[in-house]
Amino acid sequence: MIIVLLGPPGTGKGTQATAIKERYGIPHVSTGDILRANLAQGTPLGLEAKAYMEKGELVPDALILDLVADRLTLPDCQKGVLLDGFPRTLAQAEAFDRALVAQKKAIDHVLFLSVPEDALTRRLAGRRVCRGCAATYHVDFNPPPASLVCPGCQGEIYQRADDSQEAIRNRLKVYNDLTDPLIGYYREKAYLREVDGSESPARVAEAIARSLS
Ligand code: AP5
Ligand code: MG
Ligand code: ZN
Repeated sequence: MIIVLLGPPGTGKGTQATAIKERYGIPHVSTGDILRANLAQGTPLGLEAKAYMEKGELVPDALILDLVADRLTLPDCQKGVLLDGFPRTLAQAEAFDRALVAQKKAIDHVLFLSVPEDALTRRLAGRRVCRGCAATYHVDFNPPPASLVCPGCQGEIYQRADDSQEAIRNRLKVYNDLTDPLIGYYREKAYLREVDGSESPARVAEAIARSLS
């Protein structure tokens, strides 16, 4: 089972991924989480990606394609994968399609989560994330513990550098320019399923389950 989660920054891709990956028994592969882990460890990839990510620009396609190709060769991806934040440009989508054809595989579903832009800004500005396990909180909608220690993994709960007002504005623009065209690309291939992501997390999860069954 290969599922692609598509949608603007803050639409709830990371939030909804947990239920989907458990339902299908497939790993959740978020290119953003992998890049942030590399950044925290100071790897060459992390150092190269840092400046792009902080400004809300996309990391160059070639780096991302290598990262995803490496991740998908690990044994846990044999049953499939839930991709979050990849592909994000037409070039990435086309390269991914070519790689799948070569392996006689295909995408099963592309799930597009739609949320109005003003709600996205509010979600991103109030988001808090665990450094250890990437669990996501929101100061108003799902407040983290006052200690800012993650109940799941004891990791530190922090605010992402790209959740500043300026980076949020740029990320939404970059999404509209470079990632939004993927909706038409996948609609043409008949993979696309659109889900309204503006309801509560539980309602959105129900809508996703209906849409995938
Ligand atoms: P990435 O980490 O993928 O960030 P993003 O796409 O901007 O998406 P987000 O993680 O911000 O949003 P989300 O949809 O996961 O929302 P969440 O569930 O957290 O990428 C970061 C950077 O890495 C990029 O800018 C780029 O530089 C680089 N990068 C990554 N992949 C790349 C690629 N393929 N190519 C090139 N560069 C790449 O929810 C957000 C908030 O809302 C949370 O606080 C949450 O609690 C809250 N929330 C969620 N659902 C609801 C709801 N239903 N109601 C109320 N609040 C909700
Ligand atoms: Mg995310
Ligand atoms: Zn944690």
